[in-house]
Amino acid sequence: MAHFARPSRKTALAAATGAAALAAGAWWFTDRAPYPYAQRRLLDLQLPFLGLADLDTVLRPRPGERMLELGPGTGLQALHVAPQLGPQGRLDIVDVQQEMLDHVMRRAQEDRAEGDGPGAIVPHLADARELPFEEAEFDAVYLVTALGEIPEPERVLADAARVLKPGGRLVVGEFFDRHWIPFQRLHRMADSQGLHLLERRGPSLAYLAAFRPCATETAGAGAA
Ligand SMILES: C[S@@+](CC[C@H](N)C(=O)[O-])C[C@H]1O[C@@H](n2cnc3c(N)ncnc32)[C@H](O)[C@@H]1O
Repeated sequence: MAHFARPSRKTALAAATGAAALAAGAWWFTDRAPYPYAQRRLLDLQLPFLGLADLDTVLRPRPGERMLELGPGTGLQALHVAPQLGPQGRLDIVDVQQEMLDHVMRRAQEDRAEGDGPGAIVPHLADARELPFEEAEFDAVYLVTALGEIPEPERVLADAARVLKPGGRLVVGEFFDRHWIPFQRLHRMADSQGLHLLERRGPSLAYLAAFRPCATETAGAGAA
């Protein structure tokens, strides 16, 4: 009968540590739980290349437009964009966490009470992969540090393209965190959903990119 030497305590400990590290690594890269509301304070920080001024430059919100934000979190971008749409415009926001939507609406109410509040913001508790809207409802759809967090980002892009009006624009912001989508990957995914790249600002680690459905692209239209 063959005899195998029992692993030393040191070897067993190293194996257990390695297994734990592998499990932690797998979780780090594959976990797709929504951003925890308990850590919401971090969402108030503007990230390099994805600040509000950067977003304005790429998204170009205009009075009277109807826009959609996916994964607004606590409203850093929503509360900045909505006032630019004016009284005739409207911003719809979609999130899977009711706490996030409630937070945005509370802040909007506070801003209005101070006299500089946004126009209409309409919250929807829904999944960005199955948007509760008809085709061609929006002038623009945007999402910042949210796409990588959502499982099946291709479905998000496809549904965003579906709800865009002809000539509408999609703006995606991604940052180098554990859910980061490198720009080249986003570009490929967008391409496969018939979305044509108009503009990109920032390096692949932290960028905003604007797309337009290919069928509606017109020469020289740009993101303007
Ligand atoms: C990291 S936060 C980004 C928040 C905000 N855009 C910002 O930059 O501060 C991601 C947001 O996406 C939302 N989210 C995650 N999965 C989602 C899904 N399947 N559909 C819609 N929203 C989702 C989360 O609840 C969270 O509010």
